[in-house]
Amino acid sequence: MDRLDEKALVGETAAIQYVKDGMTVGLGTGSTAYYVIKKMGEMIKEGMELKGVATSKATEKLAREYGIQLVDINEVEELDVAIDGADEIDANFFAIKGGGGALLREKIIASAAKTFVVVADGSKKVQSLGQFPLPVEVVPFGYKQTERAIRKLGCKTEMRFKDDKLYVTDNGNYIVDCSFPSIQNPSQLHETLNNIVGVVENGLFIHMVDVLISVDKQHEISVDIAKR
Ligand code: A5P
Repeated sequence: MDRLDEKALVGETAAIQYVKDGMTVGLGTGSTAYYVIKKMGEMIKEGMELKGVATSKATEKLAREYGIQLVDINEVEELDVAIDGADEIDANFFAIKGGGGALLREKIIASAAKTFVVVADGSKKVQSLGQFPLPVEVVPFGYKQTERAIRKLGCKTEMRFKDDKLYVTDNGNYIVDCSFPSIQNPSQLHETLNNIVGVVENGLFIHMVDVLISVDKQHEISVDIAKR
């Protein structure tokens, strides 16, 4: 089973187990969330009524292609479930997200969901977070000052670029990718980063993931519920 098969397996399993008729679903961003959206498209064709709230413009486009009716996040009080990928996830179900640049909307939508499900291929589970550079969304004004302040926390920083230009998020902000030697205390780092002026949000998802659907080294699927 290759990575794409794993992504398809966890994505489809999440849709089958957690998406039910009549639900409004938070739709994640990325190559694993793609399989959730695709499966939801099939479920709609089979007669289910489903609505979606997208975590990015890319996902909005995809959802339309698969016939999922989109609703604005401001029009719903609560989402029944949100299903999204992750860049890394540890044994506490703390995660790094934002490799695709959608971390802010992803976090708003995960926070609005009764249940937040992460779908992860075999490469995403880690002993400790931080191998994957932590994405931090910052406002454009004074971004070099903000980057400098982040660097003082002991990481190497890189402004994210796309096509030789600074990458701009769906919210009109920039992303600083931060490489820490290791992230010993994710909760504390989350607080510290969000207290830096100019930082909009960071990619650490702390105490947010309710369910992790992943594939182990033997390619077996597991569905684990967060203990808290
Ligand atoms: C998007 O901003 C990210 O948070 C993605 O959810 C994350 O990067 C996982 O993406 P893949 O499923 O493509 O690995």
